[in-house]
Amino acid sequence: MASTLDVNKTTLASSANRSVEIPRVSTTGLTATRIFSSTTMLSIRDAVRMAGSGRCVALSDGGDQLWPASHPRRIMPRQRQNAQVVSSASNSAPIWEKHREIIREMFGPVSEALIEDAGVISGSSVLDVATGHGEPALRIAEVVGPTGEVVGVDPAVGLIEVARRVAAQRLLKNVRFEVAGVDSLPFPDDHFDAVISRFGVMFFPSPVNGIREMLRVLKPGRPMSFAVWHYLDNNPFHYCLARIVDRFSPQPELPPDVPNPFRFATPGKLRSIVGEAGARDVSERLFRFSINAPLTVEDFWNLRCDWAEKLRQRLAALPTEAFIELKKEVLDAFRSYVKGSGVSFPAELLIVSGKK
Ligand SMILES: C[S@@+](CC[C@H](N)C(=O)[O-])C[C@H]1O[C@@H](n2cnc3c(N)ncnc32)[C@H](O)[C@@H]1O
Repeated sequence: MASTLDVNKTTLASSANRSVEIPRVSTTGLTATRIFSSTTMLSIRDAVRMAGSGRCVALSDGGDQLWPASHPRRIMPRQRQNAQVVSSASNSAPIWEKHREIIREMFGPVSEALIEDAGVISGSSVLDVATGHGEPALRIAEVVGPTGEVVGVDPAVGLIEVARRVAAQRLLKNVRFEVAGVDSLPFPDDHFDAVISRFGVMFFPSPVNGIREMLRVLKPGRPMSFAVWHYLDNNPFHYCLARIVDRFSPQPELPPDVPNPFRFATPGKLRSIVGEAGARDVSERLFRFSINAPLTVEDFWNLRCDWAEKLRQRLAALPTEAFIELKKEVLDAFRSYVKGSGVSFPAELLIVSGKK
């Protein structure tokens, strides 16, 4: 039997800046305890104590996660977890700006697929959530033309600044960028003709709440479309590096449903969340394409090393000899994907769509 304990109701004073007295709670007879708290003051030790030995603990802000109590260090409230994801994305802004044109080319086919599935045409008003450095919003601005409107939102300030610079350089008047997270979109109800997100939903603190908020700002009957990665094993763009890095720098196994690029790799998982959020006519399709980069293997390695803050930290922590050996193995793996004067990786995504 699972039981829910709302810490906010059982604590007398859960103010953000004071420590909170957690009452002792009997969990006798429960096999799982779900503990909700909007305060970060609830310590992991307290959460585990409250759940009882061997039971499951979820310490979140209303998300829906259960961790084994035997792995308490992995427990982190969803909002704090999301703040780390966003700060890491923002710290990577100069790198995304540096590689922007290459990244645009690599994932251009995904933008086109979303444009098609979300029915974006000339004159549409479109919201791009988790736009990062401005894609696919900037591409969509070309499609909707001067009579259309595109807004890209992302909580990572550094990335939004990159997107704004690009829009200004291109003299685009029909696209703008706002700093905002999916949980609180600064738009009225029933505003957009389409809402899309490329590689964003997997990082939302609560995907179901995020999708509900996206449905709120969508006009009735209009579509939303999301692109997420299919399995790691189907994506050499990721696994050529990840498998080797994991061998040299092993990481603890991720708790289920923690925000990460492969959170929705299992077919049906995001589709059911989109349905649960209230969308109609929900569909999912496998999308195969090639990630093409006009780079030598060595330059592609440099791009991939730059890619994410966590990866940079893991590589930097390796002893020099291990780093040299790792790099050699990764370059060998990349060589299997050399095509012409660049590299080309077969890739698989799931595109999930629904209507308001
Ligand atoms: C992999 S990037 C995708 C960027 C871009 N859409 C693209 O396809 O290149 C994931 C993005 O999700 C954003 N993100 C993380 N949490 C978010 C939230 N709660 N609401 C909206 N976006 C979020 C991050 O800041 C980051 O820019």
